[in-house]
Amino acid sequence: MEDSAALTPGVGPRYRSVDSCDVEIPRPFCLVVFGVTGDLAKRKLLPSLYRLARSGLLPEHYFVIGVGRGDLGKPAFRGAVRDAVQGALEDEFDFRTWSDFSHRLYYVRADDTGSDSFRPLKRRIGDLEKRHGTTGNRIFYLAVPPDAYEAVASRLGAAGLSRPEGGYSHIVIEKPIGRDLESARRLNMVLRASFEEDQIYRMDHYLAKETVQNILMFRFANSIFEPLWNRRYIDHVQITVSETRGIGHRAGYYDGAGVIRDMFQNHLFQLLALTAMEPPVAFESENVRDEKVKVFRSIRPFPPPAADDVVALGQYGSGTVNGESVAAYRDEPGIPENSATATFGAMKVYIDNWRWNGVPFYLRSGKRLASRKAEISVHFRPVPHLMFAHTLEGRIEPNTLIMKVQPEEAISLVFQAKTQGTRVCLGTETMDFSYRKQSVLGDYERILLDCMQGDQMLFVREDGVEQSWSLLSPLLEMLEASAAPDRFPNYESGSAGPAAADLLIQRDGRAWRPL
Ligand code: BG6
Repeated sequence: MEDSAALTPGVGPRYRSVDSCDVEIPRPFCLVVFGVTGDLAKRKLLPSLYRLARSGLLPEHYFVIGVGRGDLGKPAFRGAVRDAVQGALEDEFDFRTWSDFSHRLYYVRADDTGSDSFRPLKRRIGDLEKRHGTTGNRIFYLAVPPDAYEAVASRLGAAGLSRPEGGYSHIVIEKPIGRDLESARRLNMVLRASFEEDQIYRMDHYLAKETVQNILMFRFANSIFEPLWNRRYIDHVQITVSETRGIGHRAGYYDGAGVIRDMFQNHLFQLLALTAMEPPVAFESENVRDEKVKVFRSIRPFPPPAADDVVALGQYGSGTVNGESVAAYRDEPGIPENSATATFGAMKVYIDNWRWNGVPFYLRSGKRLASRKAEISVHFRPVPHLMFAHTLEGRIEPNTLIMKVQPEEAISLVFQAKTQGTRVCLGTETMDFSYRKQSVLGDYERILLDCMQGDQMLFVREDGVEQSWSLLSPLLEMLEASAAPDRFPNYESGSAGPAAADLLIQRDGRAWRPL
C-alpha cells in the first residue's frame, strides 16, 4: 500500500492506489465463511481479509460470519480469529485495525442435518445486515472439505440464500472441483440447481499470481512476441511447477488425489491455457474464459494404450531437501505403506489447432524436488541456417523466453551474443525483467476482492472444469487400473524427479530445463 494513497472523495466507486494501480473499494458486503475453524480459513482466508482491512481496501460497512459445527461464543470466536491472524501475519498485526475488524466478526453454529438447517443463519444475516448497514451483498465461502460442497450449496438454496436480495449472492469454492468428470458434473449440477453460473466462483489461486496474470498482458500488449507465438517459430513449451515441500498434514486428501488431480487438472492446465490461447476479443471475464475453454477443447486426447509415451509418474523416496533429511512419501503420517499415489507427474500435451499443430507442451510438477519453482519456458526453433558452423564448435542454443511465476516474479529472454575479444565467439546472454518488489496483494486478497467486485476472470467456468476433466479422467482411470506399488518410490527427495520423466522428453531429442 502506498502511503500517499488517497480515497477519491464523493459518491460513486471509490479507489485506493495499490502497486501503482487504482483498486476499486468494494461495495458493502457480508462474508459468510463455512468451515471457519478449519485450516484454510485460519491460514489463508481470515489473514487475507484482515490484510485487506489493514490496507484500507474494505468498505466502511461489512461484517463476517463464521459458520461451524461446534459451540463457540463470540469472545472465543474472536480470540480464535485473532490467533489465526497473528499466527499468519506476525509483524503485520496492529491493534487499531484489529479492534475495528474484530467488532465485525460473528459466529453461527449450523447444524448440517436437514435441508432447512440454514434458516437460522438466514435470520442472523438479515439482522446483522440491518445493524451494519450493508445492502444485501453476500458471499458464501465454502472453506469446508470438498465432500461437503454439495450439502452446503443445496442448503443455501433451500434457505433462499442463493437468491439475491437487494444485492449479489456469490458462492466461492476451491479446488478440487470433483475427482473425475462424473463427480465434477454432479457438483456443477448441484451448484446450478441453486445458483446461476455468474454467482459461482470456482477459484484457482494460481490465476491470482502476479506473473500468471502478466502472461496475457505480455502476450497481447506487445507486438513483438505474438507474431512468433506459433508453430513456425516455437519448437516446444515447458511448464514446470516444482515444490520442495512434501504433503504436510494432508495425507487423507492427498493419497486419494495424487499429483494429476492436485496440480494438473487445475493449476498446470490453467497455465497451459493462458500460454496457448488465442487473443480474446476484449480483456473481460467471459471472453478470456471462452478462449481458455477453446484450448482445452483442442487438446489431443491421450492415447489409451500408449500412456508411457505421454505421461511419467513418480513418488518420492527419502532424501535431503534444503539440507534437511526428509522421509519417503510412504513414511509420511497417514500414508499406507504400499501407496501407489503419484507425487510427481510429467506429461506431453499436443494442442491440435492451427497455431500449435505439432508443438509439444511438456508439463511437470512434483513434491519434494530439488527446488521450488513455477515457470513457463517457451523454446524457440533454432536458426534456419548456421552460417557460423565452420568457425564455431558446438551447437548454438536456441532462444528461450522464460516466464517465472515463483519464487522470482520475472521474465527472461535467453539469446546469443558475440562475446568480447575473440573474433568469432558466441555466448549465451539473458535479458531480464523482474518485479523488483513483492506484490502488495496476495493471491487470496486478490481473489476476495474480485469476488466482492463481481469479476469472474480469475475463476474457472463450469465448461472449463468439465473440459479439463474429460481429458484427464480417462487417463487417470487407465493409470490407476495399471498402478503397481512396486514401481514406487522412484525418485529421491531433493532430486529432479524420476528418470522416466527425463526419458519422456529425451525421446523427442529435448531436455528439461534444470530445476
Ligand atoms: C495447492 C495444492 O492447490 O497448491 C498443493 O493442493 C500445492 O498440493 C499448492 O502445494 C501449491 O501452491 P503454491 O501457491 O504454494 O505454489
